[in-house]
This record gives sequence, structure tokens and C-alpha cells, in this order.
Amino acid sequence: MQNLIVANWKMNPVSLEEAKNIFEQIKSGTEGANAEVVICPPFVYLAELKGLTLGAQDIFYEEKGAFTGEVSGEMLKNLGVEYVIIGHSERRKYFSETDEIINEKMKKALESGLKVIFCIGETSGERDAGKKNEVLERQIKKGLAGVENLENINVAYEPVWAIGTGNNCSVEETKESIDFIKKFLALSHVEGVDTRILYGGSVKSENSGEYIKDAKANGLLVGGASLNAEEFVKIIKSAE
Ligand code: PGA
Repeated sequence: MQNLIVANWKMNPVSLEEAKNIFEQIKSGTEGANAEVVICPPFVYLAELKGLTLGAQDIFYEEKGAFTGEVSGEMLKNLGVEYVIIGHSERRKYFSETDEIINEKMKKALESGLKVIFCIGETSGERDAGKKNEVLERQIKKGLAGVENLENINVAYEPVWAIGTGNNCSVEETKESIDFIKKFLALSHVEGVDTRILYGGSVKSENSGEYIKDAKANGLLVGGASLNAEEFVKIIKSAE
């Protein structure tokens, strides 16, 4: 099982030219890399970027129809997109995505033949209140309700307080959470399922390697640092 290194470009960059530029640099820097690399740019660039595995940052849970502004899993699959991020904390926070909406998206993504990067993680308030594991359990249970087969699921543990803050989670705490998630998945799903658990939250090349080696993450979800090709290539290499 290769480590999975995902670039979440979020709502960046602002021009196609810039997107192509970063993409091409990542492509040449990762030739022959021994890790699975996925780039998740904004929807508008997906059809224009070729030569690396692509992921979308969101989908809607209907296949087609009168849903102004939305994009379906089928559309993405037909475009050659392989992955989709579901449950990111920014969507939970700014777009009011509930566990139930996330579950609808999850089922639709799998039905469309997409692989999922399923984001979960506690806020600082939940962590301080000692509710971390409870939150992770609820997000997994509800997000994966009705999903029997975890083959196309990758779980990204992203503590909300660590995202975009420079305040990355310690290796010890990350390992604890990853172990907890693994155990919970094995309990609630078919045993022996080899689901990759990623870490995300202020990952950069100085800290990326230790999440793989010491926290035993099976990959990384990288936001800010993935827009700097040189830095992102270093992160990929640290995960080989
Ligand atoms: P960050 O974002 O690396 O900028 O903290 C991670 C994410 O939101 O997936």
C-alpha cells in the first residue's frame, strides 16, 4: 500500500496559467516517486490539468438536474477525475455541511466510482472539553452510515485547530488519534480492511516525514504548502 499525498489547493490560485505552472512543476518533481500523488484544484481547472491523478474538492449528491451551481460525481468521473474530498472542515463550517449531508455525498461519490478522501477532526473547543474521540466516532459513524465497503475510502484526520494555523498536531497526539480511528473502523466495519489514514493540518516539509514514520499515517492532506511546488515535492519525497 503506497502512501497517499493529497494537495488541497482550496480556492487557489486565481488564474489557470498559475495553476498550470504549479501543476507542471509538481509533475516533473515527482516523476518516479514512490507515493500516490493526487492534486485537488478548484473545479474550473480540472479539465485543463493532465498527467497527475486529480481529485475534486466537493461534489453534490444528485447525478444531474435543476441544482444551479452544483457539480455531480458522474460529471467528475466522466472527466477522468479519480478522487473527491468529502467532509472538509471548511465545508462543514462555511457551507453548513452536516454529517447527514456528508453521508449523502459519500454514498453518491462511491456510486459514481470515485475514491473518497473523508475528512474528520475535532475543533479546539471539543478537544479542550475532552470530546475528541466522541467527535471522531460520531463523524465516522454518520459519515459512513450505510457504507459497507471501505475499499475506496481514505480517512484524513484533520484537527480543525491545526488547519492553516501553523500549529500542527504533535506526532504523539496524531498517533493516538490515528490508532483510535483504525480501531474504530475495524470495530464498525469488516475486520482487516486496509483503510489508509492520512494526517492533515499545517503540514510542511519540516514536519511531514515524522507523520509517516512516527505517527504511522498512511499519507498526508496538504493545504497551504501544496501551492508551493518545490515544498510540496519535498513533502512527497519525505513520504516515500
Ligand atoms: P493546511 O490545510 O495544510 O493549509 O493546514 C490542510 C487542509 O485543509 O486540508
